[in-house]
Amino acid sequence: MKLYKANILFTREKDRFEVIERGCVAVEDGRVVGVAVDESAFAADSVEAVIDYGDKLLIPAMCDMHVHAPQYRNQGIAMDLELIPWLNNYTFPEEAKYAEAAYAERMYRRFVRDLWRYGTMRTVAFATIHERSTRLLMNIFKEAGMGALVGKVDMDRNSSEALQTTVHDAVAANEALIAEFNVPGALVRPIITPRFIPSCSSAMLRECGRLAAKYSLPVQSHLSENPSEVEWVRELEPESRFYGDAYDRYGLFGQTPTVMAHCVYSGDDEIELMAKRGVLVAHCPTSNLNISSGMSPIRKFLDHGVKVGLGSDISGGHDLSIFRMMVYAVQVSKMHYQYSNKQSRFLSLSEVFWLATKSAGSFFGKVGSFEPGYEFDALVVDDSDLNFDGYTLPQRLERFIYLGDDRQIVHRYCRGEEVAEPKL
Ligand code: GUN
Ligand code: FE
Repeated sequence: MKLYKANILFTREKDRFEVIERGCVAVEDGRVVGVAVDESAFAADSVEAVIDYGDKLLIPAMCDMHVHAPQYRNQGIAMDLELIPWLNNYTFPEEAKYAEAAYAERMYRRFVRDLWRYGTMRTVAFATIHERSTRLLMNIFKEAGMGALVGKVDMDRNSSEALQTTVHDAVAANEALIAEFNVPGALVRPIITPRFIPSCSSAMLRECGRLAAKYSLPVQSHLSENPSEVEWVRELEPESRFYGDAYDRYGLFGQTPTVMAHCVYSGDDEIELMAKRGVLVAHCPTSNLNISSGMSPIRKFLDHGVKVGLGSDISGGHDLSIFRMMVYAVQVSKMHYQYSNKQSRFLSLSEVFWLATKSAGSFFGKVGSFEPGYEFDALVVDDSDLNFDGYTLPQRLERFIYLGDDRQIVHRYCRGEEVAEPKL
């Protein structure tokens, strides 16, 4: 057993931080045994090492629940259109470049290195339609020792020729990646990824649902992001009662663990079905701002018992930091609060921290907390440059979330192992 000593902060419940000043976390076989105010709580003869991080902060590592790895080159550019023209003009042409493995490798290495920088140790990622470059991305995560669910994207309509495959080819590519990576307990695993309803024929959606059921694999897609998109789905799937119902008909809405990005325009029926099926919302506030999608009613999801995590959604979103995502989530919820005549209570800091760690982490198993049995995914934060005048521990964490960046993150752990900077 190893003991990690520092100032410990995490969220067991959304409404408050657990704070242990100069406490310790005991870790064995990659999992937390317990937390305590000092090391005497653990039998001395079972402790093989004490790692003392002094006055630094020790917090759970971040989870990014929705990001497009092949849009990394477009980060911070091209945000002057709404979703559908944005996809056609900027996103699809960039993703088509991933037919070339050398390009994919160059970009994907940079992407994974930067996730590491910002302390994101678990990621739910879209790749592209290409089997080879998807395999590359999975291997880069594996080599780094960082957790990821990576989806080969399935799409066969309404985009350029270069980004469409036949259903047959999509199934074959998925089967090949599943055979290679669907290992129980592995850190990097496949996730079934129909891009969204407008990109997928009924036959494609049916096969995605079949693969998810056959291999008990999770599912990711986009849901109710933009008004024109929602209207388009109504035309494409006229027999569906609402957008989420279209996924549900194909076994892609909680039949296996499912994460849906955005959910800005989810109505009461959709929210009710998501709660019933345990569908997790990946809330992507910067993306929703940049491509003017709108404000997702996160308080309503929480009040209805729907699970929520945070996503960077590069490159609709411009910021890879999940800490910054917490700030945006609070800010957007404050706009929502005013625009709802103060009916929708805004999110607190502990709530968004919980969304980014324990709530999101539930998608990967027991991840995102320092409670016993949780995998030890952790960050050591040296905030000495921000802590110049007697701030309390919660204030130090708040200042790091609002003002900090990768410079303060001095150690990163995933499943009990320290993760070194991935090579470019
Ligand atoms: N809907 C379908 N594809 C995409 C994408 O790449 N980004 C976003 N934000 N929404 C999508
Ligand atoms: Fe997206």
